[in-house]
Amino acid sequence: MLYRSHLFVPGGREELLDKAGNLAADVLCLDLEESVLPEEKERARGLVSAAVPKLAEAGKTVHVRVNSIQSGDTRDDLAGAVQAGLSGAVLAKTESAASVRQVDVLLREQELAHDVKPGTVDLIVAIESAGGLLRCEEISRASTRITGLMLGGEDFAFDMGIRRTKGSHELTHARSEIAVCARAAGLQAFDTPWAHIDDIEGLIAEAEQARSLGFSGKYVIHPKHIQPVHDVFSPSEDEIIYARRVLGAWEDAQAKGLGAVQLDGHMVDRPIAERAKHIVGQAAAITSAASGSESAGGSGSATAGSGAASGQ
Ligand code: COA
Ligand code: MG
Repeated sequence: MLYRSHLFVPGGREELLDKAGNLAADVLCLDLEESVLPEEKERARGLVSAAVPKLAEAGKTVHVRVNSIQSGDTRDDLAGAVQAGLSGAVLAKTESAASVRQVDVLLREQELAHDVKPGTVDLIVAIESAGGLLRCEEISRASTRITGLMLGGEDFAFDMGIRRTKGSHELTHARSEIAVCARAAGLQAFDTPWAHIDDIEGLIAEAEQARSLGFSGKYVIHPKHIQPVHDVFSPSEDEIIYARRVLGAWEDAQAKGLGAVQLDGHMVDRPIAERAKHIVGQAAAITSAASGSESAGGSGSATAGSGAASGQ
């Protein structure tokens, strides 16, 4: 599966939910948290419940973001959303391993109630506070459902009492910590959304920063941000061509019984060949997803390369 872009679609906005099936985001994340006011939650749950099967039918990978365990809303949010067609849930403001275990139980309860095979709805946990970040390692290992960690940058900055800047250096430690925890647990890391709708250059710079630290995708809030994020989190043509040559050189090396060879003045050894293999696998997944969506409107079932931190 590709997880480069996750588009938040406000769960209370029927017209956006209706049109989201035409958008090219790798994941549509229907939001029941921040973008929905408390008095609108119940109505939004109904809209999300109706949208999930339609969007899945249109070939999209559909997730739902649910309110935190501490909000008391998580069970109600999941009750409408979990059904055939829902691929994953995102837990907002994850503070502890215990809250992950509670969501795991709630998900199981809803899977059983809606005829969905238990354990099949993925979980992405959002780290959005200093406490959540400190407990990130135990959080990331608290359920086998977890496939990714998300950085919630705005809430994190609020919790820290710091200013959010466009250069986002204030998030560097959180990003690094989340990327390392994710990698150590075999998960992917997804970056916080970029709020400045028309500043595409800034978006790209931030996405590149995240990628360089080990993130494999980014949440987005506007359709304009999907393609730039795909560009950052996909290998370039030059990278793919070079990676294929690296693999060729590595095969030759192995055939000759060598552990390292030279290619264009650079050394190629096992880790470099492994990274090249990952890039080639990722390129194949992207091609396969693109042809899948042309032929069947599908988001594709391609499997990305072996590494979990697939932005690399
Ligand atoms: N999902 C789906 N479609 C979206 C979208 C989204 N998140 N954001 C914008 N669009 C659509 C609009 O409906 C519009 O469609 P149209 O051309 O068919 O009318 C088109 O994209 C252009 O939108 P635009 O006019 O530039 O933006 P807007 O003023 O309608 O919306 C926001 C701006 C910020 C309100 C909107 O992008 C949004 O709600 N984003 C998600 C916010 C969110 O989920 N926040 C919580 C997580 S951090
Ligand atoms: Mg948040």
